[in-house]
Amino acid sequence: MENGIFITIEGPDGSGKTTIIQMLAANLVNEGFEVVATREPGGIEIAEQIRKVILDPENTAMDPRTEALLYAAARRQHLAEKVKPALEKGKIILCDRFVDSSLAYQGFARGLGIDEVYSINQFAIEDMMPKLTLYFDVAPEVGLERINKNKGREVNRLDLEKLEFHQKVREGYLILSNRFSDRIVQIDASKDLETVYNQAEAKIKELLNK
Ligand code: TMP
Repeated sequence: MENGIFITIEGPDGSGKTTIIQMLAANLVNEGFEVVATREPGGIEIAEQIRKVILDPENTAMDPRTEALLYAAARRQHLAEKVKPALEKGKIILCDRFVDSSLAYQGFARGLGIDEVYSINQFAIEDMMPKLTLYFDVAPEVGLERINKNKGREVNRLDLEKLEFHQKVREGYLILSNRFSDRIVQIDASKDLETVYNQAEAKIKELLNK
């Protein structure tokens, strides 16, 4: 029996989602909730190892389908080893990226097809979808500028893609937001950190108070 709450946070790099997840987790813990803040690809050792392979800037020969399958493999392991057990214990999971990332990046931006990429992910996730997805929407130019200012951050293989690719990622997310409007809530991530945080917190509180 799973009685926890699975929430995912999506958006481009530089949308502030990682910082805001940490703030949300700290706040919910203060209020007495048990929270697991985690990320994809990664979150546990095997998936972190897969992450290194996918994001290694040296791996320029990686085929788009291989990329999609590796993300799905990392997702499966993370779900089985970390997300499911935490949900069974009644915890709130705040996950930085999930299947919508694969649909936007591999399905739409890489052109593999949203439905095709969803179908390989179905095998990995067995219909375990989040209750709520916060999509942090921001123009790629703004996101990329924020990344460039953050000198300590890793530069991964996908960051090195051209602006056009990142624009397609955003277009993909907007298509998903329309298609799954009952699950995905759009947050305006072009605003300052506090405003974005307040929007995200309000949506989570709405879900918790249901
Ligand atoms: P991160 O920088 O948010 O940790 O994510 C790593 C990169 O992987 C980011 O550029 C988005 C990309 N990604 C995909 O392309 N597909 C996926 O399914 C996931 C989870 C991430």
